[in-house]
Amino acid sequence: MKSFPELQTERLMLNRPLHTDADDLVQYLGADSAFSENTLNIPFPYKKEDAEFFLNELVDKGFENGNNFIFAIRKKGNPKLIGAIGIHPDKNHHKAEVGYWLAKEFWNNGYISEALKQIIQFGFKELKLQKIYASHFPHNPASGKIMMKCGMEMEACLKKEYFKNGQFMDVYRYSILK
Ligand SMILES: CC(C)(COP(=O)(O)OP(=O)(O)OC[C@H]1O[C@@H](n2cnc3c(N)ncnc32)[C@H](O)[C@@H]1OP(=O)(O)O)[C@@H](O)C(=O)NCCC(=O)NCCS
Repeated sequence: MKSFPELQTERLMLNRPLHTDADDLVQYLGADSAFSENTLNIPFPYKKEDAEFFLNELVDKGFENGNNFIFAIRKKGNPKLIGAIGIHPDKNHHKAEVGYWLAKEFWNNGYISEALKQIIQFGFKELKLQKIYASHFPHNPASGKIMMKCGMEMEACLKKEYFKNGQFMDVYRYSILK
């Protein structure tokens, strides 16, 4: 893929996160520990260098290497970043994992469900995947609701799948097939 893809939904633009988004990343992800508690790799507190690492190492290198497509979520008509959604292909196995977050003031408007449906389409049509999957911690049922609303089905509860902050954590694994 030569240029960074741009996707649209009814209310959202999904496009490349830019270095000019760094202050918004710090503002939103630094405002609440929920982002860190519900994901594997968002630190808390969240500092400018965390935003730079995200933009340089995950967004830019991920796109260059074709192993990580991380989109900024923006409302149509307003360029401000309000969240991010990523799809991480495992080319050998024609599958990808998705992950997402949204700034707290925008929760419960259906934005992530809208974005995830579009990302699933992108994965099947553009990345030619056979399987897309996602996981959530048991303490984050809203994320499981989103996965179900997007047509994903629960495959399993993966017992003690991750070691996070000194604790082994279960996750619920959901997937959708082409
Ligand atoms: C999870 C998160 C992305 C949700 O974003 P969102 O835009 O509010 O999601 P949506 O509005 O599309 O859908 C949320 C759904 O969960 C439901 N929900 C909210 N809180 C819930 C709860 N405690 N239990 C069950 N369902 C819940 C909502 O009612 C909504 O369903 P509905 O549309 O049928 O009413 C957002 O809360 C977030 O960024 N959290 C921190 C990071 C994170 O958890 N990322 C995902 C890691 S797996």
